[in-house]
Amino acid sequence: MEKYINEAVAQFKSILEEQIARQRRMEKDTAYTDYKKLDKIIIGVCGGDGIGPIISAESVRVLEFILKKEIAEGKVEIRTIEGLTIENRIAHNKAIPDDVLAEIKACNVILKAPTTTLKGGTLESANVAMRRELDLYANVRPVSVPEDNIDWTFFRENTEGEYVLGSRGVEIPDTLAFDFKVTTNEGTKRIARAAFEYAKNNGKTNVAIVTKANIMKKTDGKFSEICHEVAKDYPEITAEDWYIDIMTANLVNPRIRSNFQVIVLPNLYGDIITDEAAQLQGGVGTAGSANLGDVYSMFEAIHGSAPRMIEEGRGMYANPTSMLKASEMMLRHIGFTEYADKLDKAITICTEKDVKYKITGRSDGATCSQLGDYIMETIEKL
Ligand code: IPM
Ligand code: MG
Repeated sequence: MEKYINEAVAQFKSILEEQIARQRRMEKDTAYTDYKKLDKIIIGVCGGDGIGPIISAESVRVLEFILKKEIAEGKVEIRTIEGLTIENRIAHNKAIPDDVLAEIKACNVILKAPTTTLKGGTLESANVAMRRELDLYANVRPVSVPEDNIDWTFFRENTEGEYVLGSRGVEIPDTLAFDFKVTTNEGTKRIARAAFEYAKNNGKTNVAIVTKANIMKKTDGKFSEICHEVAKDYPEITAEDWYIDIMTANLVNPRIRSNFQVIVLPNLYGDIITDEAAQLQGGVGTAGSANLGDVYSMFEAIHGSAPRMIEEGRGMYANPTSMLKASEMMLRHIGFTEYADKLDKAITICTEKDVKYKITGRSDGATCSQLGDYIMETIEKL
C-alpha cells in the first residue's frame, strides 16, 4: 500500500506543478487571431468515425457551394485532414497523432465530425485533446425553441474542470479510485468574460452562473466567485447563481425556463445540461457547437459517432443537421455573417417549415445527401 500511496503523491505533485504552469501561461497569453485580417482562411475538416465522414462530407458540399467565390479567389481553402480516426488513434496510442495535430494547427479553423470516445482505458477523447491542444476554452451551444420562447446560449468551460485530468486519475487496485477536478482563476475569468461579452453584445440582460458550489466548495466555489467578479464590469447585466440540480429541473419547467438567456458553467455540468437542452429543441442531432479559443476555433456536432448506424448499414440516412449548424456557426465566427444567415434560414426551412425530406435515421426517411441538396436549392432561392 505504501508503494501506491507514494506513487499517487508523486503523481499529484506532478499534475499540480503542471496545472500551476498552465495558469501562469494563461496569465501571460495575448496571442489572438483576427479572421478578418487573414489573406486566406484555411478550414480544416476532420471526418472522424462512424457517421462522421458522411455528415462532414455533406457539410463540405454545402460549404463549397456557399463559399464558391471565396474558394475560387483563393480567400478560403477547405482542407481535408485524414487520420483522426479511432483506428489510427489506437495504432499511435495517442488521442491525436502528432502528424494529424500538426496538420490541424496549420489551419485557422476546424470543422470536426464526431470521433469515437472509448470508455475506460487510457486513450483520451480526441475532442478533449483538441480542445486542450488548441486551447478552445469556450464551448458555445445555442438552443432555441421559438414556440416556447426559449433562446438559450450556454457557455460551457471547455478546457478544465473534470476534463483536464480526466484520463489521469489514481487507482489503487481493489481499493479505491480518485479523479481530479481543476478550476483555475484565469480559466474561469476567460469563460466568464466570454459569456458576459456575448450577453452585452447581443442585448441579453441576464447571465446564470451554474455550479454545485454548496458541495464542490473549492472548485465550483471559485468558479462562482470569479464569475461574480467579472460581472462587476457589466452592471447592466444581472448575474444569478443557480445550482446544477435545480437548473436541470428548471430547463423543463415551462413557468420559468424562458427567463434564462446566457448560462455559464463548468465543463461537466455544461456537457450534461446541453444534451438536455438540445433534446428540448428536437434532439442532439439538431444542435451545433462552437469551441472557441483566442487563436483557433473548432466547430462540431454535439452528438457522438453513432457506430450502430454504420454497423446496421444505415449510414446514408444519418442526419447532417448538427454539422450544418456547426458550419453555420463557423461561417459567422470567421466573418461571413450573410452566408451564415442564409444557411441558418435554409436549415430552418428544410428541417422545420417545409420538410420535404424528413430524416429518420432509417430507410423510411430521407438520406443525408437529399437534405444537403434541398438545403443548397433553398439557399439559391433566398
Ligand atoms: C460533447 C461530448 C464530448 C464531451 C465527448 C464525446 C468526449 O459529449 O462534446 O459534449 O464530453 O465533451
Ligand atoms: Mg456531451
